[in-house]
Amino acid sequence: MAIQEIAIKDIVYREDLYPRQEVDNNLIEKYQQSVELLPPIKINQVNILIDGRHRWNAHQRAGATSIKAEIIQTESEAHLEILAYELNSLHGKQLTNAEKKKFAVKKCELLTIKEISRIILVQERTVRDWTHTKRKELEEYRNERIFADNLRAWNTQADIAEKYGVSRQTVSDIIKKYAENGKIAKSGEILDFKPFPYSIWNLAKSDETSYFGAFPKVYMENLLYYFTELMSTVYDPFSGNGTSVDVCKAMRRRYYCSDRIVIPGREDDIKQWDIADGLPEDLPLPDLAFLDPPYWVQAENKYSKDSQDLANMSLDNFYATFEGFLKELIGRKAKKIAIVIQPTQYKNYLTYEDHIFHFAKVLEAKYKIEMRCILPYSSQQYNAQMVEKAKEKKICLGLHRDLVIWRLV
Ligand SMILES: C[S@@+](CC[C@H](N)C(=O)[O-])C[C@H]1O[C@@H](n2cnc3c(N)ncnc32)[C@H](O)[C@@H]1O
Repeated sequence: MAIQEIAIKDIVYREDLYPRQEVDNNLIEKYQQSVELLPPIKINQVNILIDGRHRWNAHQRAGATSIKAEIIQTESEAHLEILAYELNSLHGKQLTNAEKKKFAVKKCELLTIKEISRIILVQERTVRDWTHTKRKELEEYRNERIFADNLRAWNTQADIAEKYGVSRQTVSDIIKKYAENGKIAKSGEILDFKPFPYSIWNLAKSDETSYFGAFPKVYMENLLYYFTELMSTVYDPFSGNGTSVDVCKAMRRRYYCSDRIVIPGREDDIKQWDIADGLPEDLPLPDLAFLDPPYWVQAENKYSKDSQDLANMSLDNFYATFEGFLKELIGRKAKKIAIVIQPTQYKNYLTYEDHIFHFAKVLEAKYKIEMRCILPYSSQQYNAQMVEKAKEKKICLGLHRDLVIWRLV
């Protein structure tokens, strides 16, 4: 038995560990008179108090700086909980049924029915009844997490089964059940959603965020509505602010989202990845790859000042890097590829670079255009001075993005 002198201030008191919360003040006062005669308290290897709260309090009141403690090695949280309960039940008055029930409900996440029944000496059937509602809530919460993990397309069902200690069949049943749940119809559309009926996607009001170049949510909803199905896998290697993540979650699409720079708070849903390194190894076959790259120099230094940022490259490097990546996606046989980009009008609007035609050339051998949509900007993006200048030079100002969706043939 390892008994040591431990500093009072180092003892860790965990309120949740003990079956009974009330403190017996008279007992502490009695103990306080003769702390040196008290048997050692029991703590574990990281100083968590397992048994001896009154003795510890008595030492504190007596102004002692250390206390004798027996150190018990606990192997797990469950082991610690069981010991704390058993040792505390050995002395003092019997626990009431209400106290036992409270303990059972509190501990049923961590301990099995069998373990609880053995510790509190109550039949398993009673423990099962007492904990029914709580166990249902816990199961619901676990199932939601299983479903959320499955939407992150880098997780396989086998990974998830292992993580939650359930069978693959259970994982597959939960996914099936949850896919068709909630505020969406069976096909995965948001119930109050109204798709754009025509190929010009006019926004009634902009839902732009503070993230430069974020793709409006409504556009993403339409893209997924028209070109994917419930539980399709969507790959977005330029996730930025994470519009795809949010809309995929709402419409029950699996998503593989990444970006060169992951904005803080999005680490669970967006992976850090530079497209110059090709396709990530754990990417499953995408039903739809959605590519929303920086619109070249229009976004210069907006996302970062790094030379690896597509917005900061020369035009040749921009095409070489992006098209190299596109070829890998083609090689991987992504079922659909959607690209959104605005033509660049630069050098005082005199030079016009229509990017989408470059990309179309790379895709044309293996892919067929399924649809081309025009995504207009508001004319407010040009001020009166710019418009005057353009008029003088007989220049027509560009005011739209192209969104083209290709299908593997
Ligand atoms: C137009 S924004 C994407 C916006 C996103 N769709 C959204 O809704 O928030 C372009 C993104 O490309 C990323 N990017 C730039 N160069 C990259 C590269 N080489 N590899 C991966 N991502 C890159 C930027 O960090 C930026 O977030």
